[in-house]
Amino acid sequence: MSRKLWGARFRKGIDKDFEEFSKSISYDYKLAEYDIYHSLIHIKALAEEGIVTLAERRKLSSALEGILHQVKSGKFRISAASEDIHTDIQNKVEKKTGKISSKLHTFRSRNEQIVFDEKFYCLRQAEEIYGLINEVISSLEYLSHKYEGIFVPGYTHTQRAQVLSFSDYLGTYSAMLERDSERIEYFLHNTVIYVKSGALAGNPVKTSSYKKAIKIFLSKYKMKNINIEIAPNSVDNVSNRDFLIELLSVFSIIQMHLSRLSEDFILYSTKEFNFFDLPEEFCTGSSLMPQKKNPDFLELVRGYTARIYANLISLLATMKGLPLAYNRDMQLDKEPLFFSVQIIKNELKITAKFIKKIKLNKSAIDEALKDESLYAT
Ligand code: ARG
Repeated sequence: MSRKLWGARFRKGIDKDFEEFSKSISYDYKLAEYDIYHSLIHIKALAEEGIVTLAERRKLSSALEGILHQVKSGKFRISAASEDIHTDIQNKVEKKTGKISSKLHTFRSRNEQIVFDEKFYCLRQAEEIYGLINEVISSLEYLSHKYEGIFVPGYTHTQRAQVLSFSDYLGTYSAMLERDSERIEYFLHNTVIYVKSGALAGNPVKTSSYKKAIKIFLSKYKMKNINIEIAPNSVDNVSNRDFLIELLSVFSIIQMHLSRLSEDFILYSTKEFNFFDLPEEFCTGSSLMPQKKNPDFLELVRGYTARIYANLISLLATMKGLPLAYNRDMQLDKEPLFFSVQIIKNELKITAKFIKKIKLNKSAIDEALKDESLYAT
């Protein structure tokens, strides 16, 4: 059994099956970097208070920095026996520093660590996603430029309606994604990471000690666009998962846009429309029907929409009836979040490459444009 951060009052050992059931280490290891940041700030604040000596702080910080280095260089290995990432790092610090490692957990609770870590993770991922959305917008602009001056039939109710410029057609998707990127920007500007919450009711460390520790941390690690403050309401801080729900909501809207784009492109690439020639690198064939080029990437994007929406609903449902403050139910917020982040990033990355390689089939488009009903007034 790995050492627990809790359990001082327990006389019976934990049931083995329950122990396995309760672990989150197999997925929350993704938060290692941020958990170390929390420890570095906390230990500095404790040193300001004189709770740890200067020498102890140095030892603990250098142990933490060593682990951080392993995380960043991909050499960090979790111990599968640990309950969660907080415990794993604490145990690793203990191995390096011995008894003084227990001081790291003074006035601290995993309830605060987890929300700190998750917010940090979300902000970092949101930054990446912001960049990826803009790459898709650039690809749309590239294609629009390539086919400047081209007109295409526009549809309502999937019936030919009026003629559109191809650049207005593609610009519609750019407009959707611009709004998505603004939503991500809002998230990046308004998500504040908090410390000094303890388990729920705060801790006695002076605000000034934390402020100093935060300032030193932000400048030492050259952190940009990260806002760390003292929790104005510690109960709210440890109970809050709104930021996750917000991000998963934005993901759902992005996903809805990508899914509409996919559906349009699937339709326009069919023999019946034949306006688009899709890039082969992102399609598959059929052994039985060699004439086919299947739009699998676009179908998978459309298909993943169900999972992305479900992950938002899963979190909304998890949070719905929870009494204040932290409850273990909240541990289950991570898998939907990590899954959605990964899918959204992959989709955006591939969509940006995909769009650039689309070819217009001008003869089929010109044929369709001969339909006089498109010009009826
Ligand atoms: N693994 C937990 C989670 O992800 C960390 C917080 C645990 N806190 C507690 N009091 N058991 O939510």
